[in-house]
Parts: sequence; structure tokens; C-alpha cells
Amino acid sequence: MGCNIAIDGPAGAGKSTIAKLIAKKKGYIYVDTGAMYRAMALYFTELGIGADEQDKISAAAPGADVTITYENGEQIVWLNGKNVNGLIRTEAVGKMASSSSANKDVRKKLVELQQQLAKKESVVMDGRDIGTCVLPDADVKVYLTADSHVRAVRRYEELRAKGQECDLDVIEKDIIERDYQDMHRALSPLRQAEDAVLIDSSDMSIEQVADAVIGMCKS
Ligand code: DC
Repeated sequence: MGCNIAIDGPAGAGKSTIAKLIAKKKGYIYVDTGAMYRAMALYFTELGIGADEQDKISAAAPGADVTITYENGEQIVWLNGKNVNGLIRTEAVGKMASSSSANKDVRKKLVELQQQLAKKESVVMDGRDIGTCVLPDADVKVYLTADSHVRAVRRYEELRAKGQECDLDVIEKDIIERDYQDMHRALSPLRQAEDAVLIDSSDMSIEQVADAVIGMCKS
């Protein structure tokens, strides 16, 4: 029998890199819940809705059909029938996702989708509220964090490797702002579940973190 692994933590802590590696090693499905919030955010942005227009976000939410499929182990996010994987990784969409994910109609819709996915398969799911709300009975719960400067440097290097111009100070400021917003919202704020294991990856390699998490799985 497999198990469900929940990984929560702030932006840029390495959740998706670690979760993908664990999924590959264990043969589990990787579910990137942030990508779903980003797809919804893209939808609102395309409609011209602003980050602080909560009523408009609620009214528009039913019109966004977000689904997930897998191709060669990679998660594809579909928004109203369109593959949006190439459109959701920008800082602007990330910021909008942080705001629109505070909306109860957005959360209700996506939490249901995430819970359905975990019922069918063994999953490694990462996000902000997986251990606290989405999968409260997950077999393994990890709260993955790292120093904000370390996280900013990682993001900076990732963007530079893709050939994008960026400013380290701006990235660090954005990360701190987004974490504050994610930790202080009323609904399912980012926090460590009581039964989650804290891992600080500031001085750890990807392999070290993945092995530590795999070591927590009984099967
Ligand atoms: O992990 P990410 O950067 O792709 O997530 C984008 C935003 O989505 C994040 O700032 C907060 C929100 N989010 C959430 O509220 N709950 C989740 N389970 C995952 C992401």
C-alpha cells in the first residue's frame, strides 16, 4: 500500500523540486496545488479583475474550470480546456494567486479537486494548507522552509538560468510579502500542522531533503 505525503511551506522553499523527486523515486503522483491557484489567478487577470476585488473574484470563480492531467509524469493544468502550464509561472501570476487564493469560493473549488485526486492515487501534494486542511490524515506531513535570503537566491538563480533579467533584492522583498499574505489570511493560512515535521532546507541538498522525507514513509 502507498501513502499520501503532504508538503507545505513558504514560497521558494524547494517544495516542488523535492516533491517531484520523491514522486519519481516512490512512483507516486505529484500534485502541485499552487499551479491550480495560479491557473485561477490567470483567469481573473485575463478578465481584468484586480487583486483586491474579492466580490468580482467570487462572482467569476464558477466560470473557471481547472482540471489536471498527467503526461509522462508531468502535471498539465488545464483552464477552460486550454493547457496553461506555460503561462502561470510568472511573478505577476504568483502575486495574484496569493491574493485570489484568500477567496473562499476559489479555495472550496480547488480543495475539492485536490481531495478527489488523493482518493484515487498515492500522492505527494505540495502547497500551503495540505497538512492542515486538504489531507489532514496524510501519512507523512512535512513543513519545508528555508531562510528567506536563501530562498530568494534560489529563485534568482532559477530565473537567471532561464535567461530572465531579475533583481535579487526585489525577489527577496516579493517573497517576504507573499509569505506574510499567505500566513495572515483568514482562510487556511500557511502554518505548520501540529503533526508535521519541520525541515529547514537552508543548508541541505535536494537529495538530502528527499531522502529525509522518504525515510518517514512506512511502506
Ligand atoms: O506554490 P506557488 O507559489 O505556486 O503558489 C501560488 C500561491 O497560491 C501562493 O502564494 C498561495 C496560494 N496557494 C494556496 O493558497 N494554497 C495552496 N495549497 C497552494 C498555493
